[in-house]
Amino acid sequence: MKSWPYEMIKLKNVGVRKAKQMRDLEIDRQTSPLIIHGPLPTTTIANSILCSYIYSSGRVRGTCKQVIKELDPTIGKHLEVSMYLTEESRLTIDGFACKNWELIKNLAVKITVYNGCCKQVVQTNTTKLCSTKSIVTINGKFPGPTIYAREDDSVNIRLTNKVQYNVTIHWHGVRQLRTGWADGPAYVTQCPIQPGQSYLYNFTLTGQRGTLLWHAHISWLRATIHGAIVILPKKGVPYPFPKPDKEKIIILSEWWKADVEAVINQSTITGLPPNISDAHTVNGQTGAVPGCISPGFTLHVDSGKTYLLRIINAALNDELFFKIAGHNITVVEVDATYTKPFSTDTIFIGPGQTTNALLTADKSIGKYLIAVSPFMDTVVAVDNVTAIAFLRYKGTIAFSPPVLTTTPAINATPATSAFTDKLRSLNSKKYPANVPLTVDHNLYFTIGVGIDPCATCTTGSHAVGDINNVSFIMPTKALLEAHYYNISGVFTDDFPAKPPISFNYTGNNTAMNLRTTNGTRAYRLAFNSTVQIVLQGTTVIAPESHPFHLHGFNFFVVGKGLGNFDPDNDPKKFNLADPVERNTVSVPTAGWIAIRFKADNPGVWFLHCHLEVHTTWGLKMAFVVDNGKGPDESILPPPSDLPTC
Ligand code: C2O
Repeated sequence: MKSWPYEMIKLKNVGVRKAKQMRDLEIDRQTSPLIIHGPLPTTTIANSILCSYIYSSGRVRGTCKQVIKELDPTIGKHLEVSMYLTEESRLTIDGFACKNWELIKNLAVKITVYNGCCKQVVQTNTTKLCSTKSIVTINGKFPGPTIYAREDDSVNIRLTNKVQYNVTIHWHGVRQLRTGWADGPAYVTQCPIQPGQSYLYNFTLTGQRGTLLWHAHISWLRATIHGAIVILPKKGVPYPFPKPDKEKIIILSEWWKADVEAVINQSTITGLPPNISDAHTVNGQTGAVPGCISPGFTLHVDSGKTYLLRIINAALNDELFFKIAGHNITVVEVDATYTKPFSTDTIFIGPGQTTNALLTADKSIGKYLIAVSPFMDTVVAVDNVTAIAFLRYKGTIAFSPPVLTTTPAINATPATSAFTDKLRSLNSKKYPANVPLTVDHNLYFTIGVGIDPCATCTTGSHAVGDINNVSFIMPTKALLEAHYYNISGVFTDDFPAKPPISFNYTGNNTAMNLRTTNGTRAYRLAFNSTVQIVLQGTTVIAPESHPFHLHGFNFFVVGKGLGNFDPDNDPKKFNLADPVERNTVSVPTAGWIAIRFKADNPGVWFLHCHLEVHTTWGLKMAFVVDNGKGPDESILPPPSDLPTC
């Protein structure tokens, strides 16, 4: 991978008036190259920032505009500079050299910074578990670079594909109001970016603050293409909890020694379930596992300080527990919405979910184990290797043994509900929980897995995932384009509102044949209609917990239960006052979840199990939300560089 050389930006003559038009400069030191990028201050800043830039074939100097043009003429009007900032870098404003990183971060100077502009999809060799393989990454990093932005920022990230796979990226949990073209699921909102091609993802962060994640949304590439999105509150707006001294990102993931694309391809050929992963990781590190010594990730803390942990589950198929020995943490936000704070020693987090929690380093100086272990309360095979990381206080004596902790049992269902039952929307004046109180569309979706014959599989059969007995078939054109341009033959809008046959969904059905049908069927919603979905887990083949994710919306989790949903009595117990608001929720094994949302975002939006193995098997469907009548109630036109299939 080509690494960006160190260079310098110099800001001259940036007066207060001009500075106001700019935005904040955020720097993520670990994940440079730093990209400064933003559509705002083209004339004022691009002309007044002096840049010089060294790259392999020479050096450019001049105003940013000139430099940028030289480096990448396709970028046009945008101010976009990529440079590798090191401790020795200088940023000069009005002749004032800023060497101090804190100061640089607080400068009144623009700019949304993306380590991402020119996010490049590249192959990189990586060694874990004492074995080396080539992985697909963004800019050579695993996990990938963090995107920092503020609420109301517009984000522009150009993705350039330099590998042999088709690629897309999904900004998981970003509302994408009217900008479905930038949502990212392949064949749902866009055709994939083909090898050698690039696409500019352009969207605005509206009404959200907290942590989200981005990940590839095609095949199983998200195993190694994922990273954090940090949305800070607007400038001057505090967090609704005590200001932490520092923030730390913690990304949990899964690792296969084998090539992950080969794992899923082989499963498709044979019809057998794909191999489980070989280990879990914390910020890319597994910690020691039997047969392979590895240091594991260390979270460094100073005694007495409080840290905001931004915890992300980027695993493909595993719901996880996260625990720090000897420390309770206080949950303050999930899926980029604030919650009522509560203290816990264990976090339960499904793939696609994020949890922000405050950790105060108030224990004796030393080293404490951080354990990340899987949850699986049924007979399905799962990677049961616990990832090991450490919390380390400054001043800890070298080689001190860590304070240990136990992990919840792998099938500790009560530990999952102990956590999820405490989650409540903050529901303050400033951050109200706007739960829909009436319901226009009352949907009952059974979700499960079955076995169907498969003529092309070597075993003659394969697993299918279905919602209301429909196993979703991916189209070969993007659904959003078919909807926008009224192209028929790509999908139908007759997705069933309830299961075709009613039976005891959570009874003894492991041998049952559902007679699943295949189809590319969507459910149509009028703009601003209100929707309730009861997601009913079934026991066909095997009951299992399913972390369900809805694109384009947050929903409120108004009810939850074991067994079959009772439409007469269960709604009486719904929480319509302060239910948690999120984008991904675990439907309990052989149980149900009720969610509500308002269809205030026109477009085509995917709903699927966020266990990649189940998505692959067809446990997914799409909503089509029609345009409204008002001026801001229609899908924006597609960008001119939208990839074609
Ligand atoms: Cu995070 Cu459709 O996925």
